Parts: sequence; structure tokens; C-alpha cells
Amino acid sequence: PQACGVVPEAWRFDCYPERGVVVTRELCEARNCCFIPASSSPPALGRNGVPWCFYPPGFPSYSLVSVNATDLGQTGTLVKTVKTYYPKDILTLQLGLLYETDNRLRVRITDPSESRFEVPIAVPKATEKASSPAYSVELSNEPFGIIVKRTSTGAVLLNTTVAPLFYCDQFLQLSSSLSSQYIYGLGEHRSSFLHDIHWNTLTMWARDVATSSLLPDHDSILYPLTNLYGVHPFYLAMDEGGTGTAHGFFLLNSNAMDVVLQPGPAITWRTIGGILDFYVFLGPDPTSVIGQYLEVVGYPAMPVYWALGYHLCRWGYGSSNATWDVVKNMRNYGIPQDVQWNDIDYMDRSLDFTFDPTAFSTLPDMVKDLHSHGQRYVMMLDPGISSVQPEGGYWPYDEGLRRGVFINHTDGSTLIGKVWPGLTAFPDFSDDVTHEWWYDNLKRFHDKVPFDGLWIDMNEPSSFVDGSTVGCPDTELENPPYTPGETHTHLSHLTSSHYNMHSLYGLLEAKASCPEAYVRKRAFVISRSTFPSQGQYSGHWLGDNRSHWKDMYTSIAGMLTFNLLGVPLVGADICGFSEQTEEELCVRWTQLGAFYPFTRNHNSIDQKPQDPPAFSPAARSAMKQSLLLRSSLFPLLYTLFHRAHTHGHTVARPLLFEFPKDVRTYGIDRQFLWGKSLMVTPVLDPGVDYVVGYFPQGLWYDYYTGDSIRSKGEELRLKAPLEHINLHLREGAVIPTQRPNTTLFVSSGQPLHLVSSLSEDGSAGGELFWDDGESIDTFETDQYAHVVFTVVKVPGSTNTITFTSSLPIASYITVETASFYGVKMEPTRVMVNSHDAAFTYRANQVRLGVRSQRLSVF
Ligand code: GLC
Repeated sequence: PQACGVVPEAWRFDCYPERGVVVTRELCEARNCCFIPASSSPPALGRNGVPWCFYPPGFPSYSLVSVNATDLGQTGTLVKTVKTYYPKDILTLQLGLLYETDNRLRVRITDPSESRFEVPIAVPKATEKASSPAYSVELSNEPFGIIVKRTSTGAVLLNTTVAPLFYCDQFLQLSSSLSSQYIYGLGEHRSSFLHDIHWNTLTMWARDVATSSLLPDHDSILYPLTNLYGVHPFYLAMDEGGTGTAHGFFLLNSNAMDVVLQPGPAITWRTIGGILDFYVFLGPDPTSVIGQYLEVVGYPAMPVYWALGYHLCRWGYGSSNATWDVVKNMRNYGIPQDVQWNDIDYMDRSLDFTFDPTAFSTLPDMVKDLHSHGQRYVMMLDPGISSVQPEGGYWPYDEGLRRGVFINHTDGSTLIGKVWPGLTAFPDFSDDVTHEWWYDNLKRFHDKVPFDGLWIDMNEPSSFVDGSTVGCPDTELENPPYTPGETHTHLSHLTSSHYNMHSLYGLLEAKASCPEAYVRKRAFVISRSTFPSQGQYSGHWLGDNRSHWKDMYTSIAGMLTFNLLGVPLVGADICGFSEQTEEELCVRWTQLGAFYPFTRNHNSIDQKPQDPPAFSPAARSAMKQSLLLRSSLFPLLYTLFHRAHTHGHTVARPLLFEFPKDVRTYGIDRQFLWGKSLMVTPVLDPGVDYVVGYFPQGLWYDYYTGDSIRSKGEELRLKAPLEHINLHLREGAVIPTQRPNTTLFVSSGQPLHLVSSLSEDGSAGGELFWDDGESIDTFETDQYAHVVFTVVKVPGSTNTITFTSSLPIASYITVETASFYGVKMEPTRVMVNSHDAAFTYRANQVRLGVRSQRLSVF
């Protein structure tokens, strides 16, 4: 082909992405593509680099042959005359442009002659066209392409003319330029928070990746690329030009796909089914982008209060008494613990909805004891239901068969795979009948063991055999012309085949697992596999990590990414799951974990215990201190979750969200914020007593001492002895904290202590959301209190603090003390409601004893 030489390497779009093929000139030219070896050396094994075989300019694509206006935007017809090199081209397509809101554009490219699979999640239906959209859309006719710009700045957010469009039955491909190299999201992978755009292929297909099975080893270059448990085809990107504006893109598609990032900067979506249905979100700030995305897939649920406490778990306690001993030990040391968990070993021979009658005979008593101490119990459920128990002996399977809830082969026989209990059938959670059956099982088990929440694992779904015990049929679905994925060749590898629905399994199981109906309280579910809209039904833990410093570091990126994806209740296995942890790592990890929105220490079988009492007195006390600190910050954390639930905000927040104009924050994933004001700078390396953190420009206060730091936007070296985690408050905040206790049940009844960090002009603000912590829909039914705190400096006077509240304050919450950081001179007098109040002053800081006054009379 002509003009191959004019294509810069950064803009070469891969014409031969099939893996495991040595792409020769001959193969490449048979596709009518350009073949030019790359100037740089070939990339590392398994990683793709600059493609040698790429599309020439003018490679046949679709043409836009007609456009008509519709109520919501435009519709058009796309036609292609030359077939591609993949089977079953769809040569005529329908284009739909929907101007859904001023900040949200939706584009659908469908087959007008036959219906294709569409993802079954509820998305909003616009009824009228946006009146003053923040975007403009240009259509290119020949070749067809869409160009989306931000009207206010002219920044190009999407331009799909950069490479040909493919729309074959099992190969759909759309490329676009990216506005900048700053792109985030695209879970689930174990990568840095900011994605690398240098020929980075991120595969999406829900998959169980056991820590030991990642070859050649975890630290290899392949590790960050491997597709993991969840699938989230959403990204947030910063606009070009460093203006601080951001936008988002969501491809509503659940088929196996590859997402290729290249230095153009550009992106290619390559999926093997469904339709092309995507959204562009205009922001313009990162927080609004996430809010707009979550308007489409759903805001996260408000968690039950104890979800935010400390959870302790391991695989292999071995008995209920051993589990109980751990709880008692925690109580003896006065270490906070809200929830005790059990892994599969509580089950009788790994059978769901049973408990081991011997080793776990005291389980119901243990759960009662937890409840009487204000603690909660969560246990694991795997979706695989044993299919080989004697007939009449295992209700879940017998009844499941009777109701027809299991996934079948195409001939109607039950598909059998293999999980912990041996041979298993898999419930089909896309069917309401299955939900009823699952619920009945939960109810029957709950009558025996009154559990409080569920841990749903292995729901990719994972199986120990490929496809089924008899493999997979040799069909087009099992052998698509193109197979996404880095390390395995078959889609059915360690799972079962359900081409379109596979990656939705965890979402649909979570939906079935919300036991609200019988506990009549907010459900608590933690799921391994996730899909967009998951946050409405469950939280997530980041899966099987190792007791390695590196894994502790990558957990921050995982936590931040899931906050972008609308699953803010997220955390990693604290101290590491597989391999033996060490004391220093476990202390540092507990400190970091105290700032995961979901805080659980979990350990693998055959490893030594890693619960806090298992360590030396010094380590134990450092862990206890960090968990008490978390508990004291509960009012703030709970309020942040309320914001996530009602506005789609992030809880654990990347610095760039608050400082989008500061490019130095764009790659930060060793520090993060809670909300907009509390910055966490954990130690992530062994053997150090300091940590270097970046402080965006402005005034910051040491959370513990109130000492101020005035930063020009610089890195600072902070002291970090083993018992200390660095926390800084940004200027202008009022955060509600509480006297901590060993459970949130107790501490959430304790009086508040307000901490204010005054800005240069003496002002600060904050809020508190408060309700009973567990009733369903308290916000929706007005059963809550929302308090706004404002600190204003009255000119020429001391600081005056004003509280306003949107509702009468609940009588169960009082303010006991308040601290003000940044009071430059010692006041002579401090008054509360016109009465003198006792106070102390220490360099920069006033502390008041408010003595349990009600907020309403404060
Ligand atoms: C999976 C889970 C892990 C659990 C184990 C045994 O590997 O990811 O958390 O401990 O199964 O159930």
C-alpha cells in the first residue's frame, strides 16, 4: 500500500493483533496492511510494542451515507463495501447519537437487521435532547468517524477517524485519539493508578488469577497486564493542554476485549461481541466525570455502619473455637474489631449452606457471642454447588435441579465444573428463579447461623477445569477469530463458557445476595468479581495478593481505581494473603489498611497467624493505635460514603481530583486523600523511619499536632517511626471525629470532637451525615441529620464558629471538644453560645472543651 512511510510509529494501529503469530510481511500484506519493522528493539516477551503490521491511511472502513435528525440527536447509516479479513462482516450499520444531557453524549452503533447481545444493566433513558451541551459532535463521512470536542475550549476528546472501524460478528474494533497521556480506570488489573500508554494492552475478561499461577513470575512485565476478576471498560482522562479539565468514556460491553493504549496518544477497543454502545462524559472536573459515569451505572449503596470497622479473617482457622479464640484475644488486648469472618473451612466438606458439624459445632454460639458484643459475622459462599451428594441429602443441589436454576450445556444437561467441593453445578444468576432459590438457601442457613453479611468469592466464575468436565464444544464461540488475553489462549480457561454473560456473573450474584429482605437492614456483601454498577450491591476486595511490599503499594492504585469505578467500599488483604508476612510489613500494612475504605486482614491457609495479637507488644500496639485512629475518624468516613451514595463522589481520592491543575499530582499513587482534606502518606518500604510525600501548594497541618506546613507544591521528607502513619489536613476543613472504641457500635455513640484547619483567611468548613447506621434508605426517607460546619473569622475579632443544620440534630450525637489549627495568636477569650468556654492554646492551636453540648444548642 501507498503512504505507509507517512504513518508515525506512535500512530500505527495494529493490523495483526493475533497473539502467538509471527507476523511476516506476507501475512501482513495479505491483509492489505503496511509492514515496516519498528525502529526500536522488539518489546519484552509477551508484551506488544510498535506494530510492524499496521493499517495504511485509507484502509477500507465504513462510510456515512445518510444522517437524519431525531428527538434526541441524530441517526445515520454506515455502509462498507469491502469485506474485512474476519468472518461475518456486518456491512450496513445504524448509528445513533444521543445528546442525553449537557454533560453526557451516548453513541450506539448497531446492526439494523439483526438484534445482537446488549448488556442487561439498567441505564437512564433520556427523554429530551440536551439543550446546551458542553460538547460538539462532528461526523466524518468518508471514512466514517466521530469527533467530539469540548465546546468551551475546543479540546478534542474523541476522534475515531484515526483507524478503520471493524464490525464483524465476533470482532468489533474502534480506535480513537486520546486527549492526553493521562488516563485512569480500565479495571481490573494490578497496575499503577496512571496507566502507561506505551503499547499497553489491557485485557478485560473476568478471571481468577491465583497468585501462584501467574507466570513467569509476579514481578514480570506481564503482571500488570493480566486480566483479573473484574471488568470495567471505563476510563477518566485529562484533557489536552494541562488545563485541569477531565472527561470520561464508557463502553457498555461485556464481551472479552482488549484495550490497547499507544503513545499517539490513542486507544483501541477490540471486543469480540455485543454492540458498540458508548458514553462520553464532559466533567469538566474529575469529580464530576465520576458523578456523571455513576449517573449511568448507579451510585454506590450506603454501607451499614459496621462495614467501616475492622474485619478479621483467614483461610484455615480450622474450627469455630479457634476462630472464637482470636476474637477473644482481640477483646483482651482492646484492639478494635467489628467483624469476624470465616473462609470455606467453616463449611462441611466445602459445601455451601452447611457448616462442619464437628470442627465448627460451636459456630452458632460464636455468632451469638459476637452479636452480644456488638460485633458481626460474615462468611464465605462460592457459587459452585456440589453436584455429587447422595440424592435427597443436599437440598441446595436437589432443589436447584428441581427449579432448573443451573447453567446448562446446549443440549440441556447441567454443566459440571470443579471447585472446592469437587464437581459442581453453577447457578444461573441471570434468572429470577435462581435469585429466589439462592434466597431460600440463605434464609434456611440464616435460621441456623444468623450471619450478618456475605463474602462471595470464585464468581468469575472460577472453575478448576477449563469449560466443564467435558470441555467446551468446538464452536465459533469457543474459537473466535480473535481471542483477547495475555496469558491464556482459550476463553474457557478455568471458567465455563458463556460468551456474553461471563463477566457479569459477579454482578448478578451480588444482586441475588443482598439479604436485606430478612435482616431488614442494609446488606453487606463483598464480591471478588465485579462489573459496572456493582457498587449498588456490593463492595470488593482486591483478591489474592502476596505478603510483599510491592503488593501493598499496588493496593493503593487498586483502591483508587475502584473508587473511580463506583465501588468505593474496597480494600486489599491487609498484611498480604499468600506467603508468610513479616512483622514490619504487617504493621505498615495495618496503618495503610486503616485508610482503606474497607479494612480487612486476611491470610491464606498454612501461613502463620497474622492477626494483631500474633505479634510483639510493640507491633501489636502500633496496629491497635492505627485501628483506634480509624475508629475515631468514623464520622468523617461515614459522611464521605454518604456523598458517594448521593453524589457519586469518591471516598479514597487521588490527589489529582483535588488539584487537577497540578500536573505533579497526576501520577501519584503512593499517597491519597480521604475526601478533599485528609491526606494519607503511608510508608511503603522496609527499614525506613521516614517517608517522602508530595504536598500540593497551600497550607497543610499535621493531623496529630496541628503544626503547619506551607507548601509551594513540593516533596517533603516526613518522620515516620514504626508506630506512626503520616496524616495531614488541608487548610479550610472541619472534620468530625469521635472518641474511638473497640467496636463502632460503641464508638458511634460517643461524642464528637471537631477538628478545624483554618485557611489563611481564618475560614474552614465541613459536614456530618448521621443516621442510625443500618436502616435501609434513611436518606431517601428523611431519617437522618445533616450538619454543616462553618468557621468564619469575624473581621477584627477572634474566630467565630457557626453551625447550621438542615434538620434538628439527633439527640444521640453531641459535641464534646473542638480543636482549631492555625490560630496565630493566643486568644484572650473564647465563647460558645455567648458563654465563656475553657480552652487551651499551644503553638498555633486552640482546643476547647465544649462539654457534651448538643449541637443544636451549640
Ligand atoms: C480464593 C479467595 C481467597 C480465599 C480462598 C479460599 O483464593 O480469593 O480469598 O481465601 O479462595 O476460599
